Amino acid sequence: MRVTMRAVHADITTLAVDAIVNAANTSLLGGGGVDGAIHRAAGPELLVECRTLGGCATGDAKITRGYRLPARYVIHAVGPVWRGGGHDEPALLSSCYRRALELATAHDLRSVAFPSISTGVYGYPIEQAAPIAVSTARGVLASGASTSEVIFCCFSASDLAVYERLLG
Ligand code: AR6
Repeated sequence: MRVTMRAVHADITTLAVDAIVNAANTSLLGGGGVDGAIHRAAGPELLVECRTLGGCATGDAKITRGYRLPARYVIHAVGPVWRGGGHDEPALLSSCYRRALELATAHDLRSVAFPSISTGVYGYPIEQAAPIAVSTARGVLASGASTSEVIFCCFSASDLAVYERLLG
């Protein structure tokens, strides 16, 4: 299967893909940043479903429907808060990308768009987070995932430049 990975400069709530990934927190009950934007665009039914999930551990992910979004599903992934890099942040960040793609495969989803998890409010430096995002997705896709299209959705031109350098 041909796999494509690319970076775009966009608001993730506008993407008509099988699933968009949310940079959520462990409560899964909403927040600011991309989480707030996704809940606003999906409508109140998203929060109703999130309330049934019992939260989510850091490094893990859970899936809901997309409701009013153009995306069919939302995969809520919880990245680590950056605490200087010596508190397992790289492994936890990698884990939430891997878990998100495992859920996508479990639901037979072909196209998945990720925001730059943990690099906003959670403070993870983009220069260190983006290589983990790209290499984890490469690894999961190479090991037989259903997903054949991964989109790294960048909210700023400077984030896009970081991803484009990595993707070549
Ligand atoms: N589309 C794409 N990317 C976006 C959008 C959007 N509409 N809005 C923001 N970003 P953040 P985190 C980018 O802070 O660091 C929330 O309150 C943003 O520029 O949303 O993982 C949660 O509830 C940045 O590049 O997520 C958690 O409590 C990236 O998305 C906490 O923030 C992630 O920034 C999670 O923090």
